[in-house]
Amino acid sequence: MTKTIFAANWKMNHGPPHARGFLDRFLDGYQHESGREVWFFPPAVSIEGVAQRVARLPGILVGAQNVYWEPQGAFTGELSVSMAKDAGARAVLVGHSERRHVFGETDDETGRKVRAVLDCGMTPLLCVGETLRERDNGKTLAVIHRQLAALDGLDGESLSRIVVAYEPVWAIGTGKNATPADAAAVHAAVHSWFDERAVAGGNVPVLYGGSVKPGNAQELLSEDEIEGVLVGGASLEPESWRAICAVGLD
Ligand code: PGA
Repeated sequence: MTKTIFAANWKMNHGPPHARGFLDRFLDGYQHESGREVWFFPPAVSIEGVAQRVARLPGILVGAQNVYWEPQGAFTGELSVSMAKDAGARAVLVGHSERRHVFGETDDETGRKVRAVLDCGMTPLLCVGETLRERDNGKTLAVIHRQLAALDGLDGESLSRIVVAYEPVWAIGTGKNATPADAAAVHAAVHSWFDERAVAGGNVPVLYGGSVKPGNAQELLSEDEIEGVLVGGASLEPESWRAICAVGLD
């Protein structure tokens, strides 16, 4: 493991004025630590402002929450990858469970988005995770493998540029997180999936997401297979987000 990634998914929160206020409070007292990166996924309208604010700060990166795969054209309401890049994004969340389950995004669409992000030289943060019903039916790994199949056909170089987030759907925004051991078992399966494709699995970071809070981040991150966290609710307040980013530091 080379670095730990702390990724904040603001979802539909923190438009430009709130994003500015958040950063004022978050950066006051924040110190970069080597081996750690902090990634922000603001809503599209806030990408540029956040990117400009953190441009000279080491170890902080900005990403987009969603993109469309076409480069431009008559796609009302959509954001192209290059537009996100021009605004300062360097990564894109792809296949977040809310995209899949609220907006009906398919595995095929997820795969197209991953390719478009890679083609633009950016990092896709591919989210995978099972519903409670799938988990109860013992389908967790089958679902994860089906979602990872969106990457089939990519060469080793492309695969090595991907970051994965395991986010069990039943844990997102519910206050119920997977146990560190349960999460680590799925992370190990994701690492093996990349190993089998001759990509050193250890080089593909796998983050855990789903009700991560200052109080449980430490035990999740103490698992070797968990190389970071993707955080929604607890990333919205600067104090709790700073506490998560400082987990494990004395
Ligand atoms: P949560 O969201 O931390 O609020 O559970 C995580 C996510 O959706 O990425």
